[in-house]
Amino acid sequence: MGLFPYVGGDGLIYGHILSLFPASGRIDTFVEAFGGAGTITLEVARRGLFSRIIYNDLDRANYGSFLIIKEGRLIPVVEKYLMRFLEWAREPELKERIRRALKTIWKMLDKMDVRRAGLWNVIIHYLSSPGVIRNGLRFRTIDDRTFNEYLYRRVGERLRAYSRILQDVVLRNENAFDLIPALDGPNVLFYLDPPHLGRPYYRFNFNKTQLVKLCRLLAAIKGYAILKASPEDFRVVRTVLDWPFVSIKYQVYTTKNYSTYYFFVNYKTRSLLDFF
Ligand SMILES: C[S@@+](CC[C@H](N)C(=O)[O-])C[C@H]1O[C@@H](n2cnc3c(N)ncnc32)[C@H](O)[C@@H]1O
Repeated sequence: MGLFPYVGGDGLIYGHILSLFPASGRIDTFVEAFGGAGTITLEVARRGLFSRIIYNDLDRANYGSFLIIKEGRLIPVVEKYLMRFLEWAREPELKERIRRALKTIWKMLDKMDVRRAGLWNVIIHYLSSPGVIRNGLRFRTIDDRTFNEYLYRRVGERLRAYSRILQDVVLRNENAFDLIPALDGPNVLFYLDPPHLGRPYYRFNFNKTQLVKLCRLLAAIKGYAILKASPEDFRVVRTVLDWPFVSIKYQVYTTKNYSTYYFFVNYKTRSLLDFF
């Protein structure tokens, strides 16, 4: 799993994604340019796969969450708040008030300093999971199905482990369109999971023009790249990039629906049989 539960996170398929990594031994830098909850960054850092690992997200709340967990000092505060919400949420009428309060806090993230925004971002994501609230952001805050006492009781332990892992990760809060050319080089592997077309789940989303711009940028890079695409992205990506791809279909355990993603790569994977 990523640093926090995150819609579109790679937690269920991280093993498949890692198996797509190029075999080349000369890669020394790994860059997750659209980091979100940073599932792949955390796994790559846990395994010590590269000497330089960079997590990036344009959303300063996501960046702030990684920053506070890396620093570690606020982890007990996350634990304390989650346990308090756990108690309050036993009262049905308090639950609705918490929902409303968290929605208000969510709208104020950009007015807070980066660490406070990061702290609330972690707390709200732990209290949330896919669902729709009116601002278009996908999360249903404090829902019986996902309000997960088991997870909250272990959150401190989990976040302290992530904190240790993050000591080796460089954190950035930039636009991927600037970051990618700035970091590009023959020894770099970019893992790219941008927001997907028609799925505006994030505070920063993508339209077709941005996806085409990203593909054009990637067509010219010197480094290795893996680009994750939804079925809707797929058609657009194919008009710009003639890279080979692998598709992965899996069942999402919360909804029981199947999800398919395409992974475009600009190199030969270990097995040509993987393609198509
Ligand atoms: C699909 S999510 C990534 C999920 C991630 N793979 C995980 O496992 O959690 C896409 C992320 O891209 C970020 N984003 C959107 N536009 C961006 C941009 N121009 N530059 C960098 N990050 C951006 C969003 O804030 C969002 O967190």
